[in-house]
Order: sequence, then C-alpha cells, then structure tokens
Amino acid sequence: MAFKFILTEINKGTLYIRINRPEALNALNKQVMREIKDVLQQNIENFDVSGVVITGVGDKSFVAGADIKELATKNAVSAKEFSVATLATLNYIEQYPKPVIAAINGYCLGGGCELAMACHIRLASDKARFGQPEVSLGIIPGNGGTQRLPRLVGKGVAMELVLTGNMIDAAEAFRIGLVNKVTEAEKLIEACDAMLAAIYSKGPVAVKLAIEAINHGMETTLNEGLQLEANLFGMCFSTEDKTEGINAFIEKRKPEFKGK
Ligand code: CAA
Repeated sequence: MAFKFILTEINKGTLYIRINRPEALNALNKQVMREIKDVLQQNIENFDVSGVVITGVGDKSFVAGADIKELATKNAVSAKEFSVATLATLNYIEQYPKPVIAAINGYCLGGGCELAMACHIRLASDKARFGQPEVSLGIIPGNGGTQRLPRLVGKGVAMELVLTGNMIDAAEAFRIGLVNKVTEAEKLIEACDAMLAAIYSKGPVAVKLAIEAINHGMETTLNEGLQLEANLFGMCFSTEDKTEGINAFIEKRKPEFKGK
C-alpha cells in the first residue's frame, strides 16, 4: 500500500518507518497516525520483520508535535475524537509484540514526545530537543503526555516539563531517563540497528512475552504483575525456544532460535 506521509522500508529484519512531512517538521496529523498503525498492522505477522524503528525525515525534527494547523480546526468533540484515535495508534505501538525503537533525530515535542514514549525504547541524536509545550498553546498534552511522562521520569520532573512547557536537550533527557541512549546524529540509526541486532539474537517468543509482562505489569498492582510474570514465565516452558536456549547454554554453543 502506498502511503502519503510515511516512508517505509524493510531491511535485515527491521521495518523502518520515516515520518515524512519535513515542511511541517514532521507534525502528526490524523492521516500520519493512521498510516503508522496501518503499516504496523500489515507487518505484525510478517516473519521478515522482527522489529521496528520509527524516525523523522530530515535532520531537524523527529516530530514537532500534533499538527497545530489541524488542531486549529477542532472543537471540543472533534478534539476528543482526535485524542482517542491517536491514542489507539500509540497503544498499538506500545503493545506491539516486536521491539519498537524511536530514533529521535531532532525536535521531539508535544505529540512527538508522546509518540516516542509509546515506543519500547528511545535512542536520541545529540541534537534532539524534547518538550511538552502544549500549555504555551493554552491546551494540555492530549496523546498520553500527562500519563506516560510521569511513569517514565517520575511525577515531579513530569510536572515541571508539562507546566513550564520548557524544552530540554538530549543530555538532560538522558539524565532524567526519558531516553535510553544518546549518540552522534550520524550514528543514530546504526545505534538502533545494533540494539535491535542484540534483541534479534535472543528468543523471539521470550522478547514478545517480556514486552507484555512489562507493559501490563506497569498498569496493575505489584502482586498482580508478579502473578502475570509467573504465568508468562511458565508459558516460556512450552516453547521450542526455551529448549533450544537452555540446551545451547549447556552444550556451550550459540542458540538457534526459531520463534516457536
Ligand atoms: N504543527 C504544524 N506545523 C508546524 C508544527 C506543528 N506542531 N511545528 C512546526 N511547524 C511548521 C511551522 O509552522 C513552519 O511552517 P511554515 O514554514 O509554513 O511557516 C515549519 O514547520 C517550520 O517551523 P518553524 O519556522 O517554526 O521552525 P523553527 O526552527 O523556527 O522552530 C520549533 C522550530 C521550535 C519546533 C517550532 O516550529 C515550534 O515551536 N513548533 C511547535 C511545537 C509545538 O508546540 N508542539 C506541540 C503541538 S500540540 C500537541 O502536540 C498536542 C498533543 O499533545 C496532541
């Protein structure tokens, strides 16, 4: 399927999704969000895709937020509908059974920061800048910023970022735990590829179940999370991957996982 606002490519097991609206600093409109969800849905059972990298076209911006010109046309009802529809895509990304890395190559603001936070892992260029500037527009974050940011960086730091709308640089984003790693701009995709290669060498079913355990566990009580982990841990013992992984360790060889 041809997309209007995203470029897609599959290479060596990775689906690269590049948001392609550089004239608007890759701002997210309704169609971009739909296209991201569509391409992920198309590849959920594609054995040629083991993981995903989401990034922005150009060297200036990952995503500079929701499209403010589109927001200008909304009323209370359509703004809520926009928020609910966007959240459906972001929740889909968060629950995707293959690792999704945000490669943050520049401005990562508002809805852009919310998109990055829905990804499983965030790697940033040293030129990236982060923020939830919605209060400057007289609105609040509407795609998960008030919920995912405090879960990632803690309530106090999230309050400061959301209430001031201030931008922070990549080093500060790393210090507060918003991003996993900062690299030189030219090495960002290479760093994503290296992290994904490390993940691809592990048991694919285990990776999928670990994503599920962490995601669901964060939304429930410790005891329920631990029970879920015990159940998923048990499920691993029904897989060929578990037999291969444990046998390979005992036989002092590299495992050859099949994702079964
Ligand atoms: N929506 C639509 N267009 C945007 C945009 C956005 N979020 N951000 C930038 N653009 C457009 C600009 O309007 C401009 O277009 P024109 O050339 O047609 O005027 C073009 O991109 C380049 O932008 P600037 O000239 O402003 O570039 P700059 O280098 O001077 O500044 C910037 C860069 C600081 C990121 C600035 O563009 C900016 O502040 N952008 C808005 C950031 C923002 O407020 N994001 C939050 C949006 S609301 C939101 O995301 C709500 C939510 O949670 C769902």
